[in-house]
Amino acid sequence: MGRLVNIAIDGPAGAGKSTVAKLAAEKLGYVYIDTGAMYRAVTLQALMDKIDMSDETNLTRIAESVDLALRADESGNTRVFLNGVDVSRQIRTPEVSRNVSLVSQVPGVRRRMMQLQKEMGARSGVVMEGRDIGTQVLPDAEMKFFLTASVEERARRRYAELIHRGFTVTYDEVYKDIAQRDNIDSHRAVAPLKPARDAEIIDCTGMTVEQVVDAIAARVSGRSL
Ligand code: DC
Repeated sequence: MGRLVNIAIDGPAGAGKSTVAKLAAEKLGYVYIDTGAMYRAVTLQALMDKIDMSDETNLTRIAESVDLALRADESGNTRVFLNGVDVSRQIRTPEVSRNVSLVSQVPGVRRRMMQLQKEMGARSGVVMEGRDIGTQVLPDAEMKFFLTASVEERARRRYAELIHRGFTVTYDEVYKDIAQRDNIDSHRAVAPLKPARDAEIIDCTGMTVEQVVDAIAARVSGRSL
């Protein structure tokens, strides 16, 4: 195997980033890091503490005080621990999804998450997935990809995923949520969602997950020989 590199995968909600990043990491023998899960865990804690989602001081305090850990289980899925408790399922509820963009636009929250994520990427050999990995968290990552797809296709995927996980939602709700999150994520003042200048943009509309993973793995193998 060639030299280990760091791989940044960014893109909007529902582009298939998580599935692609996880499979690409498996294929390459890399560690997969889902940074969205960290923002979701902070959001869950804020909801449990009944914090107002515009209260930046308390949201920052929560981000700075929670103990967050990501661990892979035996099937390679990431489990998320919040203060030692496995919250992997709770962080995927529609309530957390609706609020996470508000929490992740708070500068103090981003500062703390970025610090933790930079530590996680300090040793090479990670596939880190999020919104600002190529631009802010790992600007020196050797490989950067920006995955995107039409809003309709992303809403269809997210809807199927939520139904599969047993949540009761309608396609229209999911579509609205994705469009709204795109808007907040792309227009926030701190670290808005945008491709890094040196990222390769992959439009996944109409591509299978396997095709995207293969494209990424082929680039990385070529690069790290
Ligand atoms: O990938 P996801 O849907 O689990 O991400 C949840 C939210 O967290 C998303 O609306 C934007 C935010 N996020 C972010 O701002 N920066 C990241 N690196 C990852 C996620």
